Amino acid sequence: MHKIPSSEITPEHVYLSRRQFMKAGALAAGAALLAACAPDLTDSTPQDSAGQGGPAPSASAQADELGDPLNTFEAITNYNNYYEFSTDKQAVARLAKDFSVRPWTVEVGGLVHKPTTFGIEDLLAQFPSEERIYRLRCVEAWSMVIPWLGFPLKKLLEAVEPTSDARYVRFESIYRPEEMPGQNSPWYNWPYVEGLRLDEALNDLTILSTGLYGKELLPQSGAPLRLVVPWKYGFKSIKGIVKVELVAEQPTSLWMAAAPNEYGFYANVNPQVDHPRWSQASERRIGESGRRPTLMFNGYEEQVAGLYAGMDLAKFY
Ligand code: MTE
Repeated sequence: MHKIPSSEITPEHVYLSRRQFMKAGALAAGAALLAACAPDLTDSTPQDSAGQGGPAPSASAQADELGDPLNTFEAITNYNNYYEFSTDKQAVARLAKDFSVRPWTVEVGGLVHKPTTFGIEDLLAQFPSEERIYRLRCVEAWSMVIPWLGFPLKKLLEAVEPTSDARYVRFESIYRPEEMPGQNSPWYNWPYVEGLRLDEALNDLTILSTGLYGKELLPQSGAPLRLVVPWKYGFKSIKGIVKVELVAEQPTSLWMAAAPNEYGFYANVNPQVDHPRWSQASERRIGESGRRPTLMFNGYEEQVAGLYAGMDLAKFY
C-alpha cells in the first residue's frame, strides 16, 4: 500500500480541487449557486464503470488523489442510504424524486454569538462551493469515490462565532413524516441526528455538500445540504440538514440511540476494529469486483490522525 506524505498530498489535492472547481463552477454557474446498517450480502449493486451514464465528470481528473476512479453519477445517485425514505438502497432515488427542497432554511445556533437562520439561497451565495473528490466508506463495508461540491463547515461556523463553551456540533435532518415514509417507522428516534467534536468540525476536510458532479444535489443524496466527513463511516454524513447547533455536551446520534453497542460517536474508519456483526478490514468498492483493504481513517490519516492523539482508537469507536 503506498503512502504519500501530507506535505505532498495536500497541495496536490488542493491544486486539483481548485482546477476542478473552475470547471465545475462553469457548469454550476447558472445555479449560482443502515440496514440498521447491515452489509449488503445480495450484491445486487449497480455495475459502475467510470464514464458510463450521467453528466460528464466536471474535471479533467477522473480519479481521487490515490488514483482510484470516480464512481459514475448513475451509481452515486441510485444506491443510497436514506432511511427516511427506505432501507432499500435502490428504492431511495424513486421514493425521493419529488421531495421538495425549496423553500428550505438552516437554523444555526446554540452556543454562538450570532445565531442565524439562513435561507438556502442566501447560504449558497454566501459560501461558494468548490469541488472535493472524496472516498465515502459506509459502515456496511461498501465504498465509492464521489466528486462533491461543497464548502468547509468551518466557514459557516466562523460566521456565527461559537462561544468559548462550544465543544461539539449537533446536526439535525428534516422531519416530514408525511413525505418521508421511513419516518413512520417506530424503530428510530426521528429526526436523524449526528454530531462532531468542534475540532473535527473545523478540520479542512469536513464540508457541507451542496452538489456532486458539478450539479446541485438530488434529493436522494441529501439535498439541499448534507455533511461529508470523509475519514468517518458514511452514517456521520447526515443528509437534509435543517439545524446546526453548537453545544457543550457530546450529542447522541440516531444510530447511537438505536444500537449503542454497534455505533459510536466517533465512528472513524478503522480496519482494525470490527463491527460486532462483520469485519471492517476490507470493503467492496462499488463498480469493482472483489474486495480491497480498508485504509486507516479511509486514507486520510495524515490529515486527521492528530485529532485523536492519546486516544485509544479501539475504545473510542
Ligand atoms: N442522513 C440521513 N438523514 N438519513 C440517513 O439514513 N444515511 C447515512 C448517511 N446520511 C443517512 C444519512 C449513511 S448510513 C450513509 S452510508 C450515507 O448517508 C450515504 O450517503 P449516499 O447515499 O449519498 O451514498
